[in-house]
Amino acid sequence: MLDNLGSLKRTHRSGELRAEHTGQEVTLMGWVFRRRDFGPLTFVDLRDREGIVQVVFDEERNPTAHSKAKRLRSEFVIAVQGRVVQRSAETVNPNIKTGDIEIVAEQVSILNESKTPPFELDAAKPPSEDLRLEYRYIDLRRQKMQDNLRLRHRLTMAARNYLDRQGFFEIETPILTKSTPEGARDYLVPSRLNPGEFYALPQSPQLFKQILMISGYDRYFQIARCFRDEDLRADRQPEFTQIDLEMSFVQPEDVFNLIEPLIVEMFAVGGVEVKTPFPRMDYSEAMERFGSDKPDTRFGMEFVNLGDIFTETEFAPFAKTLQEDGHIKAITLEGGANYSRKQIDDLTAFVRDVYKASGLAWVRYSESGEITSSLMKNLGEETIRRAAEKASAKAGDMVFIIAGNRDVVAAALGGLRLELGKREGLVDATKWNFLWVTNFPMFEYHPEDKRWYAMHHPFTSPRDEDIEKLSGEQANPGGVLAKAYDLVLNGVELGGGSIRIHRPDVQQTIFRTLGFSDEEARRRFGFFLDALTYGTPPHGGIALGLDRLTALLAGETSIREVIAFPKTARASCLMTDSPSEVSQEQLQELKIKIDR
Ligand code: AMO
Repeated sequence: MLDNLGSLKRTHRSGELRAEHTGQEVTLMGWVFRRRDFGPLTFVDLRDREGIVQVVFDEERNPTAHSKAKRLRSEFVIAVQGRVVQRSAETVNPNIKTGDIEIVAEQVSILNESKTPPFELDAAKPPSEDLRLEYRYIDLRRQKMQDNLRLRHRLTMAARNYLDRQGFFEIETPILTKSTPEGARDYLVPSRLNPGEFYALPQSPQLFKQILMISGYDRYFQIARCFRDEDLRADRQPEFTQIDLEMSFVQPEDVFNLIEPLIVEMFAVGGVEVKTPFPRMDYSEAMERFGSDKPDTRFGMEFVNLGDIFTETEFAPFAKTLQEDGHIKAITLEGGANYSRKQIDDLTAFVRDVYKASGLAWVRYSESGEITSSLMKNLGEETIRRAAEKASAKAGDMVFIIAGNRDVVAAALGGLRLELGKREGLVDATKWNFLWVTNFPMFEYHPEDKRWYAMHHPFTSPRDEDIEKLSGEQANPGGVLAKAYDLVLNGVELGGGSIRIHRPDVQQTIFRTLGFSDEEARRRFGFFLDALTYGTPPHGGIALGLDRLTALLAGETSIREVIAFPKTARASCLMTDSPSEVSQEQLQELKIKIDR
């Protein structure tokens, strides 16, 4: 038999009670976390959002409540009326915040029962992620998830309050809209009223926030949901949240000066003290030194270019690499000379399988000063010695070398650097290394379809001095740098933004460089090209990934841990079982036929 809530009113949350409440009569409501029976005494740990408090049912003092307590099971919902008493010294529990006190129950109401949960909430090791996601409503009761979502809320509020103080308006932009290119596939929504036509869910509010600048709002922000149909990873979800903002009449410097104090305030919420200003690094330098546009600067092992050492080589793979304008680069693992053949084979497989490197060469500089190398036969001792020297190898070190196409070398050696950093414990986990990466190239060339793509997005402004490289006889899109910047933290891309194009003629030139015919540009972005012609102020902005930022502060490696209802790597929600098929009637109404 269940009890009604009736006129019962909660007086406190369980986890809030402390020694100072001793003697007070309280009414608590929450879930049964655990029940333990000791003859005439039954202990129930009552849990709510704020934590756990111990409730004692004493048969002698209150036989009715005691016998009712015997019916309680895990996750039953109850209301307890009782008195706060100090625990005796030997029963104080220093592991919980309410451990100095307990509640002597006078009455208990059973407001609801619960089936036995599919997993225990206090299990030392959480169950499989699939089970957690299927029963997310149970999983979200776990303390860690409650902490994570509370942190997320507080971070969001800190951002809102800060941006409000800085004169930003929070303005919502549509979810049912037209494709905005951010480099991923769109999620499409069919229109019933316009059969055969589709909305796209926004990959970001990019064009709307720019239009808000055109409309004179000066400073906009939004805690914006974005949708991208792309391959998923630990730090990517098909729908995710950005702290998205845009400002008028600004240069990159103004954006940095706005964002750095925002980060300071948000990280203070997470208990982390952040120092400003953040260092800056050009994209070209980041690629040169770390092979990455989001370098983890918490440890060294920087790239060394060995190209000049091998200019005369007859060793075909190296000679060919240099002829084809490729790279031969190395990293040196201090104290790595003891790496075994098997370990090196593993690393070789890693750079081959994950990054398509054609191989991994090594030079071992043994403790005794002897140099051995996988390339000894091909290059000879003299050249190997010079390579080791250039790579600053000392006795006891190991040098790893990768040769090939520039992109492959950057990715493979960069990936190897991160892998070795992790394996060898070189990453100082107490460091919070922020970095602005700036001066990105405007375009990247994709040989497979022989065209240029915008590296950031097509609304990013080229540097003023590079605009002339866009067209005419001297056109050199590959040499154009953009007023784009990324905010990187410990090797994670936390945010990205740019100063935008505000001149219609420049926007049109960029579309042409990207291979859009004027008709196609009009069809896709006509509304925006028109808007640009009605007095567009110079403007720029940025978007920070709220999920990534929260995950880093929560110490989680996956953003799924800081999203209430995330999707799996196959973009499905195991709790609601979506995506799912729809009825024939719905399809007919939308005039859609499924072609399997
Ligand atoms: P960008 O595409 O760089 O820029 O996105 C900004 C930030 O959003 C986060 N992010 C993601 N987080 C989780 N899952 C994803 N699938 C995902 N994709 C991106 C990252 C990233 O740095 N409109 C521009 C911003 C601008 O120019 O103002 C944009 O969306 O942390």
